[in-house]
Amino acid sequence: MSAYAEESRVHPSYGTYQNEIYLDGLRGEIPKYPITFAGLEAAAERALPPSVWSYVAGGAGDEFTQRANVDAFAGWGLFPRMLVGAAERDLSVELFGTRWPAPVFLAPIGVIGLCAQDGHGDLATARAAGRLGVPMVASTLSVDPLEQVGTELGEGLGFFQLYTPTDRELAESLVHRAQAAGYRGIVVTLDTWITGWRPRDLATGNFPQLRGHALANYFSDPVFRSRLARSPQEDPATAVLTWASLFGNPLTWDDLTWLRSLTTLPLILKGICHSEDARRARDHGVDGLYCSNHGGRQANGGLAALDALPGVVEAADGLPVLFDSGVRSGADVIKALALGASAVGVGRPYAYGLAVGGEDGIVHVLRSILAEADLIMAVDGYPSLADLTPKALHRNERR
Ligand SMILES: Cc1cc2nc3c(=O)[nH]c(=O)nc-3n(C[C@H](O)[C@H](O)[C@H](O)COP(=O)(O)O)c2cc1C
Repeated sequence: MSAYAEESRVHPSYGTYQNEIYLDGLRGEIPKYPITFAGLEAAAERALPPSVWSYVAGGAGDEFTQRANVDAFAGWGLFPRMLVGAAERDLSVELFGTRWPAPVFLAPIGVIGLCAQDGHGDLATARAAGRLGVPMVASTLSVDPLEQVGTELGEGLGFFQLYTPTDRELAESLVHRAQAAGYRGIVVTLDTWITGWRPRDLATGNFPQLRGHALANYFSDPVFRSRLARSPQEDPATAVLTWASLFGNPLTWDDLTWLRSLTTLPLILKGICHSEDARRARDHGVDGLYCSNHGGRQANGGLAALDALPGVVEAADGLPVLFDSGVRSGADVIKALALGASAVGVGRPYAYGLAVGGEDGIVHVLRSILAEADLIMAVDGYPSLADLTPKALHRNERR
Protein backbone atom coordinates (compact mmCIF):
# COMPACT_ATOMS: atom_id res chain seq x y z
CA MET A 1 0.00 0.00 0.00
CA SER A 2 1.33 3.47 -0.84
CA ALA A 3 2.10 6.04 1.82
CA TYR A 4 -0.78 8.11 0.51
CA ALA A 5 -3.28 5.29 0.90
CA GLU A 6 -2.09 4.61 4.41
CA GLU A 7 -2.41 8.27 5.23
CA SER A 8 -5.80 8.58 3.54
CA ARG A 9 -7.28 5.73 5.56
CA VAL A 10 -6.13 7.20 8.85
CA HIS A 11 -6.76 10.87 8.23
CA PRO A 12 -7.89 11.73 4.75
CA SER A 13 -6.99 15.24 3.76
CA TYR A 14 -7.60 15.02 0.09
CA GLY A 15 -7.09 18.72 -0.53
CA THR A 16 -3.36 18.32 0.09
CA TYR A 17 -3.03 16.97 -3.45
CA GLN A 18 -2.88 20.57 -4.62
CA ASN A 19 0.09 21.24 -2.31
CA GLU A 20 1.99 18.38 -3.95
CA ILE A 21 1.23 19.83 -7.38
CA TYR A 22 2.29 23.36 -6.43
CA LEU A 23 5.46 22.09 -4.73
CA ASP A 24 6.34 20.06 -7.83
CA GLY A 25 5.75 23.27 -9.77
CA LEU A 26 8.44 25.01 -7.72
CA ARG A 27 10.84 22.37 -8.99
CA GLY A 28 9.71 23.05 -12.55
CA GLU A 29 7.50 19.97 -12.81
CA ILE A 30 3.99 20.33 -14.13
CA PRO A 31 1.34 17.61 -13.71
CA LYS A 32 1.78 14.67 -16.06
CA TYR A 33 -1.96 14.29 -16.67
CA PRO A 34 -4.67 16.86 -17.44
CA ILE A 35 -6.39 18.54 -14.50
CA THR A 36 -9.71 19.40 -16.16
CA PHE A 37 -12.24 16.90 -17.47
CA ALA A 38 -12.14 18.57 -20.89
CA GLY A 39 -8.36 18.14 -21.03
CA LEU A 40 -8.64 14.53 -19.94
CA GLU A 41 -11.29 13.79 -22.53
CA ALA A 42 -9.21 15.28 -25.35
CA ALA A 43 -6.10 13.38 -24.23
CA ALA A 44 -8.05 10.11 -24.00
CA GLU A 45 -9.39 10.54 -27.51
CA ARG A 46 -5.81 10.84 -28.74
CA ALA A 47 -4.67 7.85 -26.67
CA LEU A 48 -7.38 5.33 -27.53
CA PRO A 49 -8.01 3.41 -30.76
CA PRO A 50 -11.05 5.02 -32.50
CA SER A 51 -13.32 2.01 -31.90
CA VAL A 52 -12.64 1.99 -28.14
CA TRP A 53 -12.94 5.77 -27.95
CA SER A 54 -16.35 5.82 -29.62
CA TYR A 55 -17.58 2.92 -27.49
CA VAL A 56 -16.61 4.67 -24.25
CA ALA A 57 -17.46 8.27 -25.17
CA GLY A 58 -20.67 7.49 -27.04
CA GLY A 59 -24.20 7.16 -25.77
CA ALA A 60 -27.75 6.47 -26.85
CA GLY A 61 -29.48 8.36 -29.66
CA ASP A 62 -28.26 11.90 -30.24
CA GLU A 63 -26.74 11.75 -26.74
CA PHE A 64 -29.16 14.33 -25.34
CA THR A 65 -29.52 12.40 -22.07
CA GLN A 66 -25.77 12.03 -21.77
CA ARG A 67 -25.35 15.81 -22.06
CA ALA A 68 -28.34 16.42 -19.77
CA ASN A 69 -26.65 14.32 -17.07
CA VAL A 70 -23.71 16.70 -17.10
CA ASP A 71 -25.75 19.90 -17.57
CA ALA A 72 -28.01 19.07 -14.62
CA PHE A 73 -25.20 19.85 -12.21
CA ALA A 74 -25.15 23.44 -13.46
CA GLY A 75 -28.73 23.73 -12.23
CA TRP A 76 -27.51 23.79 -8.63
CA GLY A 77 -25.22 26.07 -6.64
CA LEU A 78 -23.80 25.60 -3.15
CA PHE A 79 -24.26 28.38 -0.61
CA PRO A 80 -20.88 29.46 0.77
CA ARG A 81 -21.03 29.57 4.58
CA MET A 82 -18.45 31.60 6.47
CA LEU A 83 -16.81 31.57 9.90
CA VAL A 84 -17.31 27.83 10.18
CA GLY A 85 -13.64 27.02 10.70
CA ALA A 86 -13.82 23.87 8.56
CA ALA A 87 -10.11 23.20 9.07
CA GLU A 88 -10.71 19.46 9.18
CA ARG A 89 -13.19 17.72 6.97
CA ASP A 90 -14.47 14.21 7.54
CA LEU A 91 -15.43 12.61 4.26
CA SER A 92 -15.60 9.05 5.53
CA VAL A 93 -18.86 7.15 5.39
CA GLU A 94 -20.17 3.82 6.68
CA LEU A 95 -21.84 1.83 3.92
CA PHE A 96 -22.84 -1.83 3.62
CA GLY A 97 -20.95 -2.76 6.75
CA THR A 98 -17.65 -1.10 5.86
CA ARG A 99 -16.14 2.34 6.36
CA TRP A 100 -15.25 4.08 3.12
CA PRO A 101 -12.60 6.83 3.35
CA ALA A 102 -14.75 9.02 1.10
CA PRO A 103 -18.22 8.81 -0.43
CA VAL A 104 -16.79 8.15 -3.88
CA PHE A 105 -16.43 4.91 -5.84
CA LEU A 106 -15.48 3.63 -9.26
CA ALA A 107 -18.60 2.83 -11.29
CA PRO A 108 -18.58 -0.46 -13.21
CA ILE A 109 -17.25 -0.09 -16.73
CA GLY A 110 -17.36 -3.16 -18.96
CA VAL A 111 -14.48 -3.17 -21.40
CA ILE A 112 -12.47 -0.92 -19.05
CA GLY A 113 -9.87 -3.57 -19.79
CA LEU A 114 -9.52 -2.23 -23.33
CA CYS A 115 -8.94 1.35 -22.15
CA ALA A 116 -5.51 0.41 -20.79
CA GLN A 117 -2.60 0.45 -23.17
CA ASP A 118 -1.71 -3.12 -22.10
CA GLY A 119 -5.32 -4.34 -22.45
CA HIS A 120 -5.64 -5.15 -18.73
CA GLY A 121 -7.54 -2.14 -17.47
CA ASP A 122 -9.63 -4.10 -14.98
CA LEU A 123 -6.45 -5.00 -13.12
CA ALA A 124 -5.09 -1.43 -13.27
CA THR A 125 -8.41 -0.10 -11.97
CA ALA A 126 -8.33 -2.58 -9.10
CA ARG A 127 -4.77 -1.55 -8.18
CA ALA A 128 -5.70 2.15 -8.27
CA ALA A 129 -8.77 1.47 -6.12
CA GLY A 130 -6.67 -0.50 -3.64
CA ARG A 131 -4.03 2.24 -3.44
CA LEU A 132 -6.56 4.90 -2.52
CA GLY A 133 -9.07 2.81 -0.60
CA VAL A 134 -11.73 3.99 -3.07
CA PRO A 135 -14.20 1.12 -3.64
CA MET A 136 -14.39 -0.41 -7.09
CA VAL A 137 -17.52 -1.88 -8.60
CA ALA A 138 -16.14 -4.51 -10.96
CA SER A 139 -18.17 -5.17 -14.11
CA THR A 140 -19.30 -8.62 -15.25
CA LEU A 141 -17.79 -7.68 -18.61
CA SER A 142 -14.08 -7.78 -17.88
CA VAL A 143 -10.97 -8.76 -19.75
CA ASP A 144 -9.60 -10.57 -16.69
CA PRO A 145 -11.65 -12.84 -14.42
CA LEU A 146 -13.20 -11.40 -11.27
CA GLU A 147 -10.89 -13.47 -9.04
CA GLN A 148 -7.83 -11.84 -10.57
CA VAL A 149 -9.41 -8.39 -10.29
CA GLY A 150 -10.11 -9.17 -6.63
CA THR A 151 -6.48 -10.15 -6.05
CA GLU A 152 -5.24 -6.87 -7.56
CA LEU A 153 -7.57 -4.95 -5.24
CA GLY A 154 -5.46 -6.13 -2.31
CA GLU A 155 -6.96 -4.64 0.81
CA GLY A 156 -9.26 -2.44 -1.27
CA LEU A 157 -13.02 -2.74 -1.27
CA GLY A 158 -14.68 -4.44 -4.21
CA PHE A 159 -18.29 -4.86 -5.24
CA PHE A 160 -19.31 -7.14 -8.09
CA GLN A 161 -21.67 -5.82 -10.73
CA LEU A 162 -23.90 -8.53 -12.12
CA TYR A 163 -25.42 -8.59 -15.57
CA THR A 164 -27.94 -11.31 -14.83
CA PRO A 165 -27.83 -13.98 -17.53
CA THR A 166 -30.95 -15.88 -18.57
CA ASP A 167 -29.23 -19.07 -17.39
CA ARG A 168 -29.98 -19.05 -13.66
CA GLU A 169 -27.25 -21.53 -12.80
CA LEU A 170 -24.72 -19.28 -14.47
CA ALA A 171 -26.01 -16.26 -12.54
CA GLU A 172 -25.68 -18.25 -9.35
CA SER A 173 -22.16 -19.31 -10.23
CA LEU A 174 -21.05 -15.71 -10.91
CA VAL A 175 -22.52 -14.50 -7.63
CA HIS A 176 -20.95 -17.34 -5.65
CA ARG A 177 -17.57 -16.74 -7.29
CA ALA A 178 -17.78 -13.05 -6.38
CA GLN A 179 -18.61 -13.87 -2.77
CA ALA A 180 -15.78 -16.43 -2.58
CA ALA A 181 -13.37 -13.87 -4.07
CA GLY A 182 -14.07 -11.40 -1.27
CA TYR A 183 -16.37 -8.87 -2.96
CA ARG A 184 -18.48 -7.01 -0.41
CA GLY A 185 -21.72 -6.68 -2.30
CA ILE A 186 -23.57 -7.51 -5.52
CA VAL A 187 -24.73 -4.65 -7.72
CA VAL A 188 -27.40 -5.90 -10.12
CA THR A 189 -27.68 -3.70 -13.20
CA LEU A 190 -31.26 -3.58 -14.40
CA ASP A 191 -31.12 -1.25 -17.39
CA THR A 192 -28.97 -3.28 -19.75
CA TRP A 193 -30.64 -6.60 -20.42
CA ILE A 194 -30.76 -5.31 -24.00
CA THR A 195 -28.35 -2.86 -25.61
CA GLY A 196 -29.65 0.66 -26.26
CA TRP A 197 -29.53 2.35 -29.69
CA ARG A 198 -25.98 3.70 -29.93
CA PRO A 199 -25.37 5.52 -33.21
CA ARG A 200 -21.59 5.86 -32.81
CA ASP A 201 -21.15 2.11 -32.45
CA LEU A 202 -23.80 1.32 -35.05
CA ALA A 203 -22.08 3.57 -37.60
CA THR A 204 -18.93 1.48 -37.33
CA GLY A 205 -20.69 -1.84 -36.70
CA ASN A 206 -18.66 -2.15 -33.52
CA PHE A 207 -19.81 -4.10 -30.47
CA PRO A 208 -16.72 -5.25 -28.56
CA GLN A 209 -18.24 -8.25 -26.81
CA LEU A 210 -19.36 -9.80 -30.11
CA ARG A 211 -15.70 -9.60 -31.10
CA GLY A 212 -14.93 -11.70 -28.05
CA HIS A 213 -13.71 -8.88 -25.81
CA ALA A 214 -14.33 -8.64 -22.07
CA LEU A 215 -15.92 -12.08 -21.69
CA ALA A 216 -13.38 -13.56 -19.25
CA ASN A 217 -15.91 -14.02 -16.45
CA TYR A 218 -18.00 -16.21 -18.74
CA PHE A 219 -15.17 -18.09 -20.43
CA SER A 220 -13.65 -18.93 -17.04
CA ASP A 221 -16.94 -20.01 -15.53
CA PRO A 222 -17.52 -23.76 -15.00
CA VAL A 223 -21.27 -23.46 -15.63
CA PHE A 224 -20.77 -21.44 -18.82
CA ARG A 225 -18.12 -23.86 -20.02
CA SER A 226 -20.44 -26.80 -19.33
CA ARG A 227 -22.85 -25.30 -21.88
CA LEU A 228 -20.22 -25.62 -24.63
CA ALA A 229 -19.20 -28.71 -26.57
CA ARG A 230 -15.69 -27.31 -27.04
CA SER A 231 -13.78 -24.80 -24.90
CA PRO A 232 -13.79 -21.05 -25.75
CA GLN A 233 -10.12 -21.44 -26.72
CA GLU A 234 -10.89 -24.23 -29.19
CA ASP A 235 -14.08 -22.69 -30.60
CA PRO A 236 -14.27 -18.97 -29.78
CA ALA A 237 -17.04 -18.23 -32.30
CA THR A 238 -19.48 -20.65 -30.67
CA ALA A 239 -18.50 -19.39 -27.20
CA VAL A 240 -19.30 -15.80 -28.21
CA LEU A 241 -22.63 -16.81 -29.76
CA THR A 242 -23.51 -18.77 -26.63
CA TRP A 243 -22.66 -15.69 -24.56
CA ALA A 244 -24.89 -13.53 -26.77
CA SER A 245 -27.77 -15.99 -26.41
CA LEU A 246 -27.77 -15.87 -22.60
CA PHE A 247 -26.44 -12.41 -21.73
CA GLY A 248 -29.55 -10.34 -21.11
CA ASN A 249 -32.32 -11.31 -18.74
CA PRO A 250 -35.41 -9.04 -18.78
CA LEU A 251 -35.91 -9.36 -15.04
CA THR A 252 -39.22 -8.62 -13.32
CA TRP A 253 -40.03 -7.92 -9.68
CA ASP A 254 -40.78 -11.62 -9.20
CA ASP A 255 -37.11 -12.42 -9.91
CA LEU A 256 -35.93 -10.37 -6.95
CA THR A 257 -36.72 -13.09 -4.42
CA TRP A 258 -34.54 -15.49 -6.36
CA LEU A 259 -31.73 -12.93 -6.70
CA ARG A 260 -31.91 -12.21 -2.98
CA SER A 261 -31.64 -15.94 -2.24
CA LEU A 262 -28.34 -16.23 -4.13
CA THR A 263 -26.20 -14.44 -1.58
CA THR A 264 -25.87 -13.14 1.93
CA LEU A 265 -23.90 -10.17 0.59
CA PRO A 266 -25.58 -6.76 0.37
CA LEU A 267 -27.74 -6.58 -2.75
CA ILE A 268 -27.87 -3.25 -4.57
CA LEU A 269 -30.07 -2.46 -7.58
CA LYS A 270 -28.50 -0.24 -10.26
CA GLY A 271 -30.64 1.80 -12.62
CA ILE A 272 -33.39 2.90 -10.20
CA CYS A 273 -34.61 6.37 -11.24
CA HIS A 274 -38.29 6.41 -10.26
CA SER A 275 -39.59 6.80 -6.71
CA GLU A 276 -42.13 4.00 -7.17
CA ASP A 277 -39.39 1.59 -8.24
CA ALA A 278 -37.31 2.73 -5.28
CA ARG A 279 -40.16 2.07 -2.87
CA ARG A 280 -40.87 -1.32 -4.38
CA ALA A 281 -37.21 -2.34 -4.30
CA ARG A 282 -37.05 -1.31 -0.68
CA ASP A 283 -40.12 -3.41 0.10
CA HIS A 284 -38.38 -6.38 -1.55
CA GLY A 285 -35.61 -6.20 1.03
CA VAL A 286 -32.68 -5.00 -1.04
CA ASP A 287 -29.81 -3.35 0.83
CA GLY A 288 -29.22 -0.38 -1.41
CA LEU A 289 -30.38 1.50 -4.48
CA TYR A 290 -28.17 2.88 -7.22
CA CYS A 291 -29.67 5.83 -9.08
CA SER A 292 -28.13 5.96 -12.55
CA ASN A 293 -29.17 6.09 -16.18
CA HIS A 294 -26.01 4.32 -17.30
CA GLY A 295 -24.44 7.61 -18.31
CA GLY A 296 -27.04 8.08 -21.05
CA ARG A 297 -25.71 5.05 -22.92
CA GLN A 298 -28.84 2.98 -22.76
CA ALA A 299 -31.95 5.09 -23.47
CA ASN A 300 -32.11 8.63 -24.76
CA GLY A 301 -35.20 9.25 -22.64
CA GLY A 302 -34.13 12.75 -21.73
CA LEU A 303 -34.17 12.68 -17.93
CA ALA A 304 -30.91 13.63 -16.25
CA ALA A 305 -30.01 11.14 -13.52
CA LEU A 306 -29.36 13.99 -11.06
CA ASP A 307 -32.96 15.19 -11.50
CA ALA A 308 -34.18 11.70 -10.57
CA LEU A 309 -32.00 11.50 -7.45
CA PRO A 310 -34.11 13.45 -4.88
CA GLY A 311 -37.22 11.33 -5.57
CA VAL A 312 -35.25 8.10 -5.21
CA VAL A 313 -33.63 9.31 -1.99
CA GLU A 314 -36.99 10.23 -0.50
CA ALA A 315 -38.56 6.89 -1.42
CA ALA A 316 -35.48 5.00 -0.20
CA ASP A 317 -36.39 6.24 3.26
CA GLY A 318 -32.97 5.78 4.78
CA LEU A 319 -31.71 2.96 2.56
CA PRO A 320 -28.31 3.87 1.05
CA VAL A 321 -28.55 5.41 -2.43
CA LEU A 322 -25.52 5.28 -4.70
CA PHE A 323 -25.49 7.68 -7.62
CA ASP A 324 -23.69 8.13 -10.93
CA SER A 325 -24.12 9.64 -14.40
CA GLY A 326 -22.55 12.94 -15.39
CA VAL A 327 -20.10 13.30 -12.48
CA ARG A 328 -17.07 15.13 -13.81
CA SER A 329 -15.60 16.98 -10.83
CA GLY A 330 -15.42 17.31 -7.07
CA ALA A 331 -18.07 20.03 -7.29
CA ASP A 332 -20.43 17.51 -8.90
CA VAL A 333 -19.74 15.03 -6.10
CA ILE A 334 -20.66 17.66 -3.50
CA LYS A 335 -23.93 18.52 -5.23
CA ALA A 336 -24.99 14.87 -5.58
CA LEU A 337 -24.21 14.31 -1.89
CA ALA A 338 -26.24 17.38 -0.94
CA LEU A 339 -29.15 15.98 -2.95
CA GLY A 340 -29.02 12.86 -0.83
CA ALA A 341 -26.63 10.42 -2.48
CA SER A 342 -24.83 8.22 0.05
CA ALA A 343 -21.88 7.85 -2.32
CA VAL A 344 -21.10 9.04 -5.81
CA GLY A 345 -19.75 6.99 -8.72
CA VAL A 346 -17.10 8.20 -11.11
CA GLY A 347 -17.46 6.69 -14.59
CA ARG A 348 -15.98 8.03 -17.81
CA PRO A 349 -13.40 10.29 -16.09
CA TYR A 350 -11.49 7.31 -14.73
CA ALA A 351 -11.71 5.46 -18.04
CA TYR A 352 -10.01 8.48 -19.60
CA GLY A 353 -7.46 8.64 -16.78
CA LEU A 354 -6.64 5.00 -17.45
CA ALA A 355 -6.28 5.64 -21.17
CA VAL A 356 -3.76 8.44 -20.68
CA GLY A 357 -1.84 7.23 -17.63
CA GLY A 358 -2.75 3.65 -16.69
CA GLU A 359 -3.10 2.97 -12.97
CA ASP A 360 -1.41 6.30 -12.12
CA GLY A 361 -3.83 8.10 -14.44
CA ILE A 362 -6.80 6.72 -12.49
CA VAL A 363 -5.15 7.64 -9.18
CA HIS A 364 -4.64 11.18 -10.52
CA VAL A 365 -8.29 11.50 -11.61
CA LEU A 366 -9.62 10.25 -8.28
CA ARG A 367 -7.24 12.37 -6.22
CA SER A 368 -8.21 15.44 -8.27
CA ILE A 369 -11.94 14.83 -7.76
CA LEU A 370 -11.48 14.12 -4.05
CA ALA A 371 -9.21 17.15 -3.61
CA GLU A 372 -11.73 19.48 -5.21
CA ALA A 373 -14.59 18.06 -3.14
CA ASP A 374 -12.56 18.41 0.05
CA LEU A 375 -11.49 21.96 -0.79
CA ILE A 376 -15.06 23.02 -1.58
CA MET A 377 -16.12 21.71 1.84
CA ALA A 378 -13.26 23.72 3.37
CA VAL A 379 -13.85 26.97 1.48
CA ASP A 380 -17.65 26.89 1.65
CA GLY A 381 -17.81 25.80 5.28
CA TYR A 382 -19.19 22.26 5.26
CA PRO A 383 -16.88 20.26 7.53
CA SER A 384 -18.83 17.02 7.47
CA LEU A 385 -21.01 15.10 5.05
CA ALA A 386 -23.96 15.62 7.41
CA ASP A 387 -23.73 19.35 6.64
CA LEU A 388 -24.36 18.68 2.96
CA THR A 389 -28.14 18.69 2.72
CA PRO A 390 -30.57 20.05 0.10
CA LYS A 391 -30.68 23.25 2.19
CA ALA A 392 -27.05 23.86 1.25
CA LEU A 393 -28.10 24.14 -2.40
CA HIS A 394 -29.68 26.91 -4.40
CA ARG A 395 -31.49 26.31 -7.71
CA ASN A 396 -29.70 28.25 -10.43
CA GLU A 397 -32.23 29.99 -12.67
CA ARG A 398 -29.69 31.37 -15.17
CA ARG A 399 -27.76 28.54 -16.83
C1 LIG B 1 -17.78 2.33 -21.64
C2 LIG B 1 -18.76 2.12 -20.54
C3 LIG B 1 -19.07 0.82 -20.15
C4 LIG B 1 -19.96 0.61 -19.10
N1 LIG B 1 -20.18 -0.66 -18.67
C5 LIG B 1 -21.00 -0.89 -17.61
C6 LIG B 1 -21.14 -2.19 -17.09
O1 LIG B 1 -20.49 -3.12 -17.52
N2 LIG B 1 -22.01 -2.34 -16.07
C7 LIG B 1 -22.75 -1.31 -15.54
O2 LIG B 1 -23.54 -1.52 -14.64
N3 LIG B 1 -22.58 -0.06 -16.00
C8 LIG B 1 -21.71 0.18 -17.02
N4 LIG B 1 -21.52 1.45 -17.46
C9 LIG B 1 -22.22 2.55 -16.81
C10 LIG B 1 -21.42 3.11 -15.63
O3 LIG B 1 -21.42 2.23 -14.55
C11 LIG B 1 -22.00 4.45 -15.16
O4 LIG B 1 -23.37 4.27 -14.90
C12 LIG B 1 -21.82 5.55 -16.20
O5 LIG B 1 -20.50 5.51 -16.71
C13 LIG B 1 -22.09 6.92 -15.59
O6 LIG B 1 -22.05 7.91 -16.58
P1 LIG B 1 -20.78 8.89 -16.76
O7 LIG B 1 -19.59 8.01 -17.00
O8 LIG B 1 -21.11 9.70 -17.97
O9 LIG B 1 -20.65 9.68 -15.51
C14 LIG B 1 -20.59 1.70 -18.48
C15 LIG B 1 -20.25 3.00 -18.85
C16 LIG B 1 -19.35 3.22 -19.86
C17 LIG B 1 -18.96 4.63 -20.22
